Amino acid sequence: MTYHKENPFLAAVKQRYRLSKDGSCKNTQHIVLDLKKSNLRYDVGDSIGIFAKYDRELVEKTLKAMKAHGQELIQNKQNGETLPLIDYLTSKANITDISPKFFKAILARQTSNEKKELLEFLSKEENRDQWKTYVKKHEIWDFLLANDEVAFTPQEFVDLLMPMLPRFYSISSSQKHVGDEVHLTVAPFEYESNGHKRRGVCTHYICELAPLEHPAVPIFVQPSHGFTLPQDHSSPIIMVGPGTGVAPFRAFLQERIFHRQSTAKHWLFFGEWNRGTDFFYENDWEELSQKGNLKIDAAFSRDQEHKVYVQHKMWERGEELYHWLENGAYFYVCGDAQKMAKDVEASLQAIIQEFGKKDPKEAKEYIKKLRQDKRYLRDVY
Ligand SMILES: Cc1cc2nc3c(=O)[nH]c(=O)nc-3n(C[C@H](O)[C@H](O)[C@H](O)COP(=O)(O)OP(=O)(O)OC[C@H]3O[C@@H](n4cnc5c(N)ncnc54)[C@H](O)[C@@H]3O)c2cc1C
Ligand SMILES: NC(=O)c1ccc[n+]([C@@H]2O[C@H](COP(=O)([O-])OP(=O)(O)OC[C@H]3O[C@@H](n4cnc5c(N)ncnc54)[C@H](OP(=O)(O)O)[C@@H]3O)[C@@H](O)[C@H]2O)c1
Repeated sequence: MTYHKENPFLAAVKQRYRLSKDGSCKNTQHIVLDLKKSNLRYDVGDSIGIFAKYDRELVEKTLKAMKAHGQELIQNKQNGETLPLIDYLTSKANITDISPKFFKAILARQTSNEKKELLEFLSKEENRDQWKTYVKKHEIWDFLLANDEVAFTPQEFVDLLMPMLPRFYSISSSQKHVGDEVHLTVAPFEYESNGHKRRGVCTHYICELAPLEHPAVPIFVQPSHGFTLPQDHSSPIIMVGPGTGVAPFRAFLQERIFHRQSTAKHWLFFGEWNRGTDFFYENDWEELSQKGNLKIDAAFSRDQEHKVYVQHKMWERGEELYHWLENGAYFYVCGDAQKMAKDVEASLQAIIQEFGKKDPKEAKEYIKKLRQDKRYLRDVY
């Protein structure tokens, strides 16, 4: 049997533990999935796609808001399959995000003038930002409750929902080192909106709901597009991975140091909140450092008044970092795309300017060349 996105393998969660120690405000977890009998193969740099299932409580809330019991049969328009509404809501539909189509359908059927006015105001093009804020604050069930004048048949309702999409997680193991397992590093999403506690569907599923030792988690391998180790295992590599961004670098280091016995130089920049509680995989790094070819610099943003980030550590070691680049090092970045990856690139440019004695244009050209040579690789989300 070949497993892929359309035919995912049902993996068991073999192991799950917190990487954040007691006292941490974070709850980042290490997850080990069992790949036995799957024939699934992955390379370092690849990701795992997971199809999650919703929490029973959230599904119940949605059914209640729909005034349905769950056993109503509905047809899944994606594949024509007939199944009970409760099963569809649990694993096939997106019951947290409100699409423009769903919003418009509620507006069209709203009979209360006051509520209709609000929805009409939000749906105007010039009020797009307010619309975004409003839908971000609601999930389907509390949007339905706020518009309880509106009714749909179960089939009408499911036809308005978006499908459940897979979530991706960078693989934090080398298959050559761990065999029939795949390791992930997952940070649960938890926040409050509209007075309710919300949880990310997949992080909640994989970190809490998925049963241990039971083949229940639908997964597939998502190959990387070039985010991988250099062909030449003697090339030095610099890895910048704050938070869960560290995941692929654990895999890179397992592969190079344990599997290939590479004696090349490896340099990891890690960042998190507090050294005492959030130094993920500290023992792994220590073991690798003892073998003599891992250098690690860690930035703990909340151990002091001012923020200390990975790019500050890079800048402190700028001269040496520039020498590594001049000596053929590959430069990798993984983690947050919104701010971190941009700030790290700005710091890289500043280092090239300062220690390579280049003007801004030349430094940008230097980075462009690194990119063209596939020596500057990013996996950011
Ligand atoms: C290639 C790739 C690799 C990745 N690797 C990893 C990894 O190694 N580890 C990891 O943990 N994640 C990783 N991610 C992110 C991961 O795929 C998911 O996006 C993440 O775990 C959230 O999924 P979820 O289903 O738990 O949350 P969802 O149910 O998708 O909820 C997240 C959504 O909640 C909303 N939200 C979040 N905070 C708030 C707030 N304060 N107020 C209102 N709304 C809010 C936002 O709309 C956000 O998009 C990766 C992503 C990609 C693309
Ligand atoms: N909303 C949620 O609950 C939630 C949960 C999980 C993940 N996420 C998102 O998923 C991604 C990864 O999250 P994560 O838990 O792995 O870690 P993260 O949020 O990226 O944080 C890791 C470290 O990076 C620091 N950081 C913040 N801004 C930075 C910047 N501009 N440059 C460099 N470092 C910076 C953080 O410091 P400070 O935080 O002290 O500034 C922290 O020390 C992020 O996009 C994050 O927003 C969100």
